Amino acid sequence: MIAEDEIDFSSGMYGLPPGGLRLDGKTAVVTGASSNIGLSIALGMAQAGADVIMVARGAERLAKAAEAVRGAEPKRRIVACPADVSTVEGVTAVAGAVEAEFGMADALVNCAFASGKAGIPADLKILEIPDEMFNETYQTNVLGTYRLIKALFHGHVDAERPASIVNVVSGSGLLPVPVIHNTAYGASKAALWMMTRYLAVNLAPLIRVNALCPGNVSATGQPHTETARKMMSQIPMGRVGKPGEMAGAAVYLASDASSFTTGAMLVCNGGRDW
Ligand SMILES: NC(=O)c1ccc[n+]([C@@H]2O[C@H](COP(=O)([O-])OP(=O)(O)OC[C@H]3O[C@@H](n4cnc5c(N)ncnc54)[C@H](OP(=O)(O)O)[C@@H]3O)[C@@H](O)[C@H]2O)c1
Repeated sequence: MIAEDEIDFSSGMYGLPPGGLRLDGKTAVVTGASSNIGLSIALGMAQAGADVIMVARGAERLAKAAEAVRGAEPKRRIVACPADVSTVEGVTAVAGAVEAEFGMADALVNCAFASGKAGIPADLKILEIPDEMFNETYQTNVLGTYRLIKALFHGHVDAERPASIVNVVSGSGLLPVPVIHNTAYGASKAALWMMTRYLAVNLAPLIRVNALCPGNVSATGQPHTETARKMMSQIPMGRVGKPGEMAGAAVYLASDASSFTTGAMLVCNGGRDW
């Protein structure tokens, strides 16, 4: 037993690292920030002290979302950047906004995604998936994410500036769910997870790269699809997640509280076995 007067915390070896779970003075970029999980993460970043660049395609919905975050956290600078991250132009626009407004980013959360499901017939067969589903999902979820990381962080190593990247993956990328429509989406999320690991290995120690894997998350408290409803019995916590329950995980991964964590996946799925 160590006597209380022998304990010395001045070395910084114990407790939360400096900065802890706070993001004060940092700039966070959140894509997919106009809805559900991305919106919640943008608010969480601002609540933790970060200035935030919020990205989504639809300018009107994004402006409303940014206004709401600004209203909740008036001391933070909240910038709405309408852009399509699946395109080179969109990525260039985000990088330009970051440079013009803040210089460099300290954190990036890649939450924007494509499911490729629009216009696809309900009776899709596993060997009849159109190329567009793969093109769309990979263009946004994998290539767009990579391009954005490259555009925002290429200067960090020379500048010796640390950063944290969080890629939002999915259970559909870890095991096949009983939805043929999720094939390309799931494969793209599996690719995103492996890309996360390659980036983590090769950008360490300066830039940490982790994945956040949400379970079924909806702001209504109800499963958002019929399949999700059928899978409710597989969730030990017996409910869907709230968007706010993803924000804490993203803030943790973006902050110095996770300073020895890279190449990891933080699963927030109510206890499902993936
Ligand atoms: N919700 C879940 O249960 C769940 C489960 C597992 C994983 N996830 C993952 O969590 C993330 C967020 O899911 P969510 O349910 O919160 O999504 P959501 O409510 O559908 O919101 C998607 C967001 O991404 C934006 N977006 C889509 N394509 C974009 C593009 N090309 N460029 C820029 N922004 C784009 C959308 O705005 P615009 O349409 O205006 O661009 C919107 O802000 C996704 O990566 C998803 O795979 C979600």
